Amino acid sequence: MTKKVVLTGMRTTGPLHLGHYVGALKQWLKIQDAKKHECYFLLADVQALTTHANNPTLLTRSVIEAAKDWLAVGLDPSQPNVHFVLQSQVPERYELSALLMMIARYSEVMRNPTLKTELERQKNASMGFMAYPVDQVADIYMVNPYPVNKDDEILVPVGEDQVPHLEYARILAKRFNRNYGRTFTPCKPLVGKVGRLVGTDGQTKMSKSLGNTIQLSDPAATVKKKVMGMFTDPNHLRMNDPGDSSNNNPVFMYLRAFDPNQDEVEKLAAYYANGDLGDVSVKRRLITVLNDFRRW
Ligand code: TRP
Repeated sequence: MTKKVVLTGMRTTGPLHLGHYVGALKQWLKIQDAKKHECYFLLADVQALTTHANNPTLLTRSVIEAAKDWLAVGLDPSQPNVHFVLQSQVPERYELSALLMMIARYSEVMRNPTLKTELERQKNASMGFMAYPVDQVADIYMVNPYPVNKDDEILVPVGEDQVPHLEYARILAKRFNRNYGRTFTPCKPLVGKVGRLVGTDGQTKMSKSLGNTIQLSDPAATVKKKVMGMFTDPNHLRMNDPGDSSNNNPVFMYLRAFDPNQDEVEKLAAYYANGDLGDVSVKRRLITVLNDFRRW
């Protein structure tokens, strides 16, 4: 029988928000529930050190918080095909990482687009940060012994922007196999339609540092307050103004991501666009939808 392995992970840097759900956890759940794969979900606490090395309390707390959020949304390591892996606790991973560093070339790593962008932002990048594209390859191949069948593969669900990382992982596996004999099954990206959520302020990204998140673990009253304060269409001043109910309006974007009744959402969107619906009504609906969704 063909063994299909899925490995994916997240840096553990704090409690998770709705953006993590839409961008990652929702896809992970789908793969888990399809039960066709051996699933490894990685709590990347070592990778969290690439940017948060100065805050050990936060690091310890973050692992617990992330694991709790994973459990809350329904990832379930009590299923035989599902495994949570705490990255720092796998000694062989460091060994593999150190060896991969020897066949990885500095010039290749420096061409990685994510690394390039980040280096422009971070002026005091650590050596660990510079090496993370290689270290991440060790995550992927540590769960992947030499294939028994020729179509065995390791799938890594990622967003479009992570594809260069995975291409590099393939290059390293092939180089290693050429030098030392067949050892690794080259991995393949599993690029799904990954959603993105803007922040509650309508900014491009939901991010803790921008203060525009709704956490998976926020109490209902906090969700209410945050939604009531959400950015909508700035030109929709009075209920009778025609409003923008496209995804440029974060309230509608969230309803499209979380409301189980999408037909109703599109009806409301039409009313809103006609100037027949006020912000408060749509916000009230979103509060109910989000609090129902998080009723674990
Ligand atoms: N880089 C991912 C993130 O930023 C986390 C991660 C670490 C990962 N190792 C991985 C993802 C291996 C996929 C495969 O959250």
